[in-house]
Amino acid sequence: MNDLFLRPEHVLQGGYFHSTLRKLQEPNTSIEPHNIMYPVFLLENEDAIQPVGSMPNVHRYGVNQLIPALTTLVDKGLKSILIFGIVETMPKDPTGSSADDVSNPVIKALPKLRDAFPQLLIACDVCLCPYTSHGHCGVLTNTGAIDHAASVKRIAEVALAYAKAGAHVVAPSDMMDNRIKAIKDALISHKLQNQVSVLSYSCKFASSMYGPFRDTMKSSPMEGDRKCYQLPPGSAALAARAAARDVAEGADFLMVKPGLPYLDIVKQTKDQFPNHPLFIYQVSGEYAMISRSGDSNEVQTTLMETLTCMRRAGADCIITYFAPVILSIISGKH
Ligand code: PBG
Ligand code: ZN
Repeated sequence: MNDLFLRPEHVLQGGYFHSTLRKLQEPNTSIEPHNIMYPVFLLENEDAIQPVGSMPNVHRYGVNQLIPALTTLVDKGLKSILIFGIVETMPKDPTGSSADDVSNPVIKALPKLRDAFPQLLIACDVCLCPYTSHGHCGVLTNTGAIDHAASVKRIAEVALAYAKAGAHVVAPSDMMDNRIKAIKDALISHKLQNQVSVLSYSCKFASSMYGPFRDTMKSSPMEGDRKCYQLPPGSAALAARAAARDVAEGADFLMVKPGLPYLDIVKQTKDQFPNHPLFIYQVSGEYAMISRSGDSNEVQTTLMETLTCMRRAGADCIITYFAPVILSIISGKH
């Protein structure tokens, strides 16, 4: 028996007893600032700041509050943000007119953010749900089904408006078939295709882990759910077809959302499209779970382990509300 344990080819520990050797054993799992994207909630009232009840340490900001908050983070290395607009006084209607109105908070803030942070990569979530009276991500027919053509047309209009206002990346999260092509065509016809990229929420599942986000955004559907457009959680096959569709339509970057329960989909998507950078959205429910997983040390070690595993599975960039914590950890600045 003893002999078995002494066989040289079974001695692994000699290869990872030292921290430098451990790094060599995990070649693609480092967490650097460019591997992190920070989602931010942008309010209409430019001077407001509001805590998010369902997400500890997360706030919603007007642009005048957001700029100082981001300044601290950019100083710690922050490289990219993903903006979500929230309207409180602007009207919500069936087609989400406020999404691309001139007084939309995202459209108004983009030039200021570009000016304040010339190096920061600015992505904008593109969806109708924060702006529609019914709370769905598309336009509805009079029987309450998704009106596909009308939805795609609106989504492309909104994406183009954010692109014109200064977004570097437009990120459609609606999950309508064929919106990537419509957005790319709109960018091309306005000669913006070499200045704006498309990050597709390609493999977005109908998850129960978006609850804290929908509270924050006041974007829950008034009736029904999103199972007719977001993917069924058990279907790896639809995720593969959705990624293939979006690549064929010209997506620059792909995404799997949520992250942790879907790491098999991350691996599958990276294997399927190794030449497309892959994002994970570590969603609000994942944030809430990890935030409550112990004291601040335990939260930090759990978080870093989770990110390492996401990188191991194939993620190139992780969209996470923990960005401030992560930057403090990796920059050594608290
Ligand atoms: C809306 C959207 C959602 C999220 C990002 N964009 C919610 C949903 O689709 O219901 C989820 C983000 C999170 O939970 O952190 N299109
Ligand atoms: Zn939506």
